[in-house]
Amino acid sequence: MTVQPPTSTNTVWHHATVTRARREAQNNHRGAIIWFTGLSGAGKSTLAHAVEEELHQRGCRTFVLDGDNVRHGLCGDLGFSAKDRIENIRRIGEVAKLFMEAGVIVLTAFISPFRADRERVRGMVEHGDFIEIFCDSTIEVCESRDVKGIYKKARAGQIADFTGISSPYEAPENPEITVNTGEAELDACVQQVIDKIMQRGVVSSQ
Ligand code: ADX
Repeated sequence: MTVQPPTSTNTVWHHATVTRARREAQNNHRGAIIWFTGLSGAGKSTLAHAVEEELHQRGCRTFVLDGDNVRHGLCGDLGFSAKDRIENIRRIGEVAKLFMEAGVIVLTAFISPFRADRERVRGMVEHGDFIEIFCDSTIEVCESRDVKGIYKKARAGQIADFTGISSPYEAPENPEITVNTGEAELDACVQQVIDKIMQRGVVSSQ
């Protein structure tokens, strides 16, 4: 099922002659959205960048869209209310789709706490184009890492609507894979994601 996005009035879709299929043939791999979801500090960005490194070394065209970075620009006007997070993920879904149509393997690292928002993005693209990776780490582990010192601030009541503390995180029910980023070694997690990307035929094994 593909979801029809809202459309501005009096606009007409222009079809490109350089199609996604032609770009993919040139790249020698498919475009795809590799969607990492999980708590802050679960290791989404670390894993996404490590997977990107591996794919890049294999000659693939890749790009990482990262929550903290995107919130410095494209989504810099958004906060962390449920409404703003929904809009954040809507924009990222649209941008990720554009990258995919450009033939790129796009890796997104956003908490993306709401199941319905992730499923909406899945529904915007063809079956097989969206690969959801659940970065499974307990809040205790994320909090003990606290790389950005943000959990400490949230516990001190200095950050409202903090995911896992004062705002919900809805774990995926049927992700393509669950990676135990709380305990497993990074290399093992990378291999798990690469195996899935191969199995889906995004990149061929030769
Ligand atoms: S999402 O919920 O809209 O998907 P996103 O991934 O873009 O979130 O941003 C999460 C990052 O913003 C966190 O890693 C953290 O550094 C920072 N952040 C700041 N405030 C919050 C908050 N209230 N809840 C969660 N993360 C926050």
